[in-house]
Amino acid sequence: MAFDYFLYKGVKFSPGSYSEELLNSVENEFQVLDDDVYIVTYPKSGTNWLIEILSLIKKDADPNWVNSVVIWLRSPWIETKEGQQQIKDVSRPRVLTSHLPFHIFPKSFFTSKAKIIYVMRNPKDIFVSLFFFAKIICHYKDPESFEQYLEDFLQGNILYNSWFDHVKGWMQMKDNSNFFIVTYEELHQDLRGCITRICKFIGKELDDAKIDLIAKHSSFEVMKENKMSNYSLGTKEFIDHTKGSFMRKGMAGDWKNHFTVAQSEHFDRVYQEKMKDLNVKFFWEGK
Ligand code: A3P
Repeated sequence: MAFDYFLYKGVKFSPGSYSEELLNSVENEFQVLDDDVYIVTYPKSGTNWLIEILSLIKKDADPNWVNSVVIWLRSPWIETKEGQQQIKDVSRPRVLTSHLPFHIFPKSFFTSKAKIIYVMRNPKDIFVSLFFFAKIICHYKDPESFEQYLEDFLQGNILYNSWFDHVKGWMQMKDNSNFFIVTYEELHQDLRGCITRICKFIGKELDDAKIDLIAKHSSFEVMKENKMSNYSLGTKEFIDHTKGSFMRKGMAGDWKNHFTVAQSEHFDRVYQEKMKDLNVKFFWEGK
């Protein structure tokens, strides 16, 4: 797409779905409710996987809702023009979504009892997922090449800026009782266990049979076939279906199929430099 990103408090946004006025109002005026749950992520970390899981939890494992209402209406993005319209129809307790960095998240959250689930993923896999996603999603600039886009990613020269800053910002919340971290890789390794922990965090009691059903309906295979969840119903103003699909591979470690050794080493060097002051270690470091 041919457009220029604009900056809101140092963060890059695209003009189609975002505006300075809206971002200012989301930061300063949006009313967070005490029973809200926010899925907060850097793009491509597993956001929609969490939306599916939380949609199923909200409906006590009944798949009717996820099979009949498109995913972006179940948990709209709070910072987009479309999302702000869609939020009006969301029933309580609301599950809402955001990619906003910590420093421009709605101020009212910080005096509320609302909860955040922060989803993280190996940034090399995020990059690969984003590289393919940016080609099909209209509010991203088209990547010139893998090599160039990798540099843009490492320097934060893309929509929502850098993964490093996103993570470092949100890690300030890591010891708060209303902040829960789950990784894409944990979801892969033990989906049932993650669903159980998420239920505990949001105060929902579901029996084993219901947890099993949620795991089944939020699996990659089922979501990929669910037209309400796989973005096949996205309009052509939003997604170019001829260039790829949203439910791409759904695996952990796909970066190994795309990075050269030199690119991986370069990534690791930048990672170490940018993350050196953060006293948190993630399982993907050194792998
Ligand atoms: P890939 O592009 O690596 O396949 P987000 O929702 O944050 O945009 O993240 C999208 C990524 O999550 C995509 O990764 C997508 O395939 C993957 N994904 C979505 N639902 C998933 C599921 N149920 N299980 C595993 N991966 C899933």
